[in-house]
Amino acid sequence: MNFETIDTTVQALWRYDYETNIKALRDLYDVAKKEQWDAATDIPWEIETDPAQVGDMSAPNMEPMDFEKALSKENQIELAKRKSAHLLSNFLHGEQGAMMICGQLVEVVPDMDAKLYASTQVIDEARHVEVFHRYITRLDRVYPIIPGLKALLNAVLQADLWQMKCVGMQVIAESIAMGGFKTMMKFTNDEVFRKVVTLTSQDEARHVSYGLIYMKDAIPKMNEVDRDRLEDFAWTAMTLLATTPELREGQKAADPMAVVYEGLGIDMKKAASEMLSRAMDPEYVKAQPNPFRDYAYPQLERIGLLTERTLPKYREVGLAS
Ligand SMILES: [Fe+2]
Ligand SMILES: [Fe+2]
Repeated sequence: MNFETIDTTVQALWRYDYETNIKALRDLYDVAKKEQWDAATDIPWEIETDPAQVGDMSAPNMEPMDFEKALSKENQIELAKRKSAHLLSNFLHGEQGAMMICGQLVEVVPDMDAKLYASTQVIDEARHVEVFHRYITRLDRVYPIIPGLKALLNAVLQADLWQMKCVGMQVIAESIAMGGFKTMMKFTNDEVFRKVVTLTSQDEARHVSYGLIYMKDAIPKMNEVDRDRLEDFAWTAMTLLATTPELREGQKAADPMAVVYEGLGIDMKKAASEMLSRAMDPEYVKAQPNPFRDYAYPQLERIGLLTERTLPKYREVGLAS
């Protein structure tokens, strides 16, 4: 058996007004009902996947590093396949986290329209778990969750304010996922994977909309103490993963990734120093897609969660311009 448990705090809220009170959320619920798809039948699973066509989804638009180029063609394909499976495994774990967090949202959010909508997202995320798991097993195997992602998801699962769960999941985590999917969609040559990502990101776009609509409504109604706590929580959520070493190219050989590189005849010392020098090159870092900076940060700005109190911290780590 492979599992772990954490204790969470959820205050379930019964709502006795069943009339619509946030129309945009009720409309989103109606859209969600119509846009359901089936991971078993709407993906062309009959098409075989050629790993050489999938490529390295963890760095799809980057020039391979020298140590990668030095590998045999066969090992290059094997490494790319493993790196993709490692990345997609973390999306898979993220989907499970999203499914559980959304289950919590059904309980904690105070508005009926928001409960109804969140219930549709639970099944969306279940479908994503199903589809990513099935696709990963075509490539390789499911790798363990990286510590930064687990820390982020656990922080959201354990958050005590429902607004924190909503911002952490719907605004931050969903935006990051959208950013990742957009990049992958652009670069993959695998038809099956393209379909997986296209259908999944349609759902994720709705999930981000929920967060934005709901938080724009809810944040102005919060008292100052809770609002400050929410701002601080957003900052923590953004930095748990964004500044976590394994997301930096230079430290990809660090522990959680070691298993991906093993057995391919790679000189890990040389590889690590090449990765590190890339990661230390500010021009290179700036040119790389950063879903936190490019997708999540603008959403936080949109819902008014960046203030004079927190903005300097974002600037300091390069998440704000
Ligand atoms: Fe999802
Ligand atoms: Fe989602």
